[in-house]
Amino acid sequence: PRTFYLTRHGQSEYNLLGKIGGDSGLTPAGLEYARRLAQFAQTHIGSQTVTNETTGESATVPRPARLWTSTLRRTLETAQFINHEALQHTWDNGDSAEWLQFRPMARRNLDELYAGTCDGMTYKEIEQVYPEEFARRQDDKLSYRYPRGESYMDVTLRLEPLAQEMERTREPVLIVGHQGILRILYAYFMGLDRNEAPYVSIPLNNVIELTPHAYGCHEKRFCLMR
Ligand code: F6P
Repeated sequence: PRTFYLTRHGQSEYNLLGKIGGDSGLTPAGLEYARRLAQFAQTHIGSQTVTNETTGESATVPRPARLWTSTLRRTLETAQFINHEALQHTWDNGDSAEWLQFRPMARRNLDELYAGTCDGMTYKEIEQVYPEEFARRQDDKLSYRYPRGESYMDVTLRLEPLAQEMERTREPVLIVGHQGILRILYAYFMGLDRNEAPYVSIPLNNVIELTPHAYGCHEKRFCLMR
């Protein structure tokens, strides 16, 4: 069956400083995750065993898959080691075939929930500079919209066409995204109440595998790094 893989980017400079949003690059630990993710993608998602009809010979060959990132540096850097070249396999009888692995695409609607005037601040700074905003968000995280920014409801709306596209895609899809974005996609596919979505735990350094079945998804989590 078709399967979705969701992961956050590797640790970013801003994650390390406790700042939200921004467009920072990865830390050395983040780069290490990027390498491990490429390995995982290769073995878990991007290969399949096929049999040559004529000769009966079977071989492990690349499996075509989609690789969707946001347009932000931290997801692009996390995806950078994942193989997206066309790979060839030559059978014993000399026939050859070509498979394209992980077709990459950077998508703006996967960009993180935009925190507007609070972008680049720590939660502590927000609490000090905008105490009322901070309190309003605690009260209603789902519909709270950052000044000049977005709410989880806004993000839910902008992700809807993408979620539908995922449902229509027959190849496996690997999404390298952000905490806020992945909470919404996860909740959508798991059939969670939208009020729960902003609190779903999506830790760094893990890949969430979702396999749709009749009434939701089967879930498996792979921790690639502590
Ligand atoms: O801290 C990482 C981050 O992705 C921020 O960029 C983003 O604002 C935040 O997580 C979303 O989490 P929460 O909605 O719980 O603040």
